[in-house]
Amino acid sequence: MQDISEYLVKNKERFINELIQLLKIPSVSADPAYSQDVINASEAVKTSLLEAGCDTAEICETNGYPIVYGEKIINPELPTILVYGHYDVQPADPIDLWNSPPFEPVIKTTDIHPEGAIFARGACDDKGQMYMHVKALEFMVKTNQLPCNVKFMIEGEEEVGSENLGTFVAENKEKLANDIILISDTGMIGNNVPSITTGLRGLSYVEVEVTGANRDLHSGLYGGAVANPINVLTKMIAALHDENNHITIPGFYDKVEELSTEERAEMAKAPFSLENYKKALNIKAVYGEKGYTTNERNSIRPTLDVNGIWGGYIGAGAKTVIASKAYAKISMRLVPHQDWKEITELFKTHFESLAPEGVTVKVTPHHGGQGYVTPIDNNAYKAASKAYETTFGKTPIPQRSGGSIPIVSLFEKELKSKTILMGFGLDSDAIHSPNEHFGVWNYLKGIETIPYFYQYFAELSE
Ligand code: BES
Ligand code: MN
Ligand code: MN
Repeated sequence: MQDISEYLVKNKERFINELIQLLKIPSVSADPAYSQDVINASEAVKTSLLEAGCDTAEICETNGYPIVYGEKIINPELPTILVYGHYDVQPADPIDLWNSPPFEPVIKTTDIHPEGAIFARGACDDKGQMYMHVKALEFMVKTNQLPCNVKFMIEGEEEVGSENLGTFVAENKEKLANDIILISDTGMIGNNVPSITTGLRGLSYVEVEVTGANRDLHSGLYGGAVANPINVLTKMIAALHDENNHITIPGFYDKVEELSTEERAEMAKAPFSLENYKKALNIKAVYGEKGYTTNERNSIRPTLDVNGIWGGYIGAGAKTVIASKAYAKISMRLVPHQDWKEITELFKTHFESLAPEGVTVKVTPHHGGQGYVTPIDNNAYKAASKAYETTFGKTPIPQRSGGSIPIVSLFEKELKSKTILMGFGLDSDAIHSPNEHFGVWNYLKGIETIPYFYQYFAELSE
């Protein structure tokens, strides 16, 4: 692979500006108010694929937002890489916590990104990381060195559970046939500590509703005599963890794989400073399941967290009222072998059993998905490792991530192919939070590293 430096010098500004244009489109899949923008983003992605050198690119309609598919097949005998990414983004709120508007990208330097970072919703998750692949393709095509076939499948519903992607994949197995799936939608340990993501957690997301009396009640006239759904809900939630922060749902841990002492020792070798971790979050202490380190708690252990809770009066001043209903949204991050549908059932049964007489409980499952562990003894990992060595000058560390991309396990099931996760974001890039950003250095490093993956993967597959 010819060195990209010269090409970057010439095209760097344009690469950044093109990404900025894409980031200006508020493609929030969760909020119907942005539906036209989500569709506009899919069009923009299609155009970019054609401009980068795909032979064909199309918008594939689904029951939800479209999937953009593009390909460049240079020789059917050669291996094929399937690039997956998403063009939809998380909602921007709370909007007033942004230092600049979420859909008006600006470049600012930070301590971690002295060369500047692009601040915008989707900068890192996933428009910036997805677009690295488009520009890497452009470089390989324009310089005549694409070493294998490539297919792109970029969806618009990742942030809402990829509901329609499963059907698309199942119905298009031939079209999507590949030798490896390549995704940049995760992170790495640090700009000086490249890492390859080798695990993703599964997810079960549920909403709960606790109902008391048939109407809101005066908290003086009825208080103390009738169940208060908010009191009850918080008590039920508190009962989901014990004093060691273990989850109390019966059967919850049955399928959790306990790592061996050696595996845990291997994991502990990854550079990590608890002091810096606490400092970055402005907390005095970390918190979590007893017996596990911070890095274990957020990767190889399952969790249960309330993501939102509401009910009752939250307006100005005081209103003395016992609301009839209380609600919470709860996510459970799962580890490989835990089945998300089974866990959802276990949760439902247990949560309902926690309710005292005097309230009714409704548990509504949202979406979920299986976890995934990637092999590190295959050609894809070797090729990725060599690619990072080439551009970072360091061997990357395998690292399990705490986040979820549920569709990855489905790819394996339907397409029978493995996934390699080459993420270039940092945990501090604030994905899903206000002031999300993506380092300009990281963006360009990704564009530089990806073509080497193609080259080494093609060589190792010979
Ligand atoms: N890109 C993230 C997942 C991620 C981020 C994995 C960083 C590893 C490291 C993805 O867009 C995401 O946000 N996934 C959701 C799950 C989905 C079903 C909504 C998540 O992890 O909350
Ligand atoms: Mn993502
Ligand atoms: Mn996301």
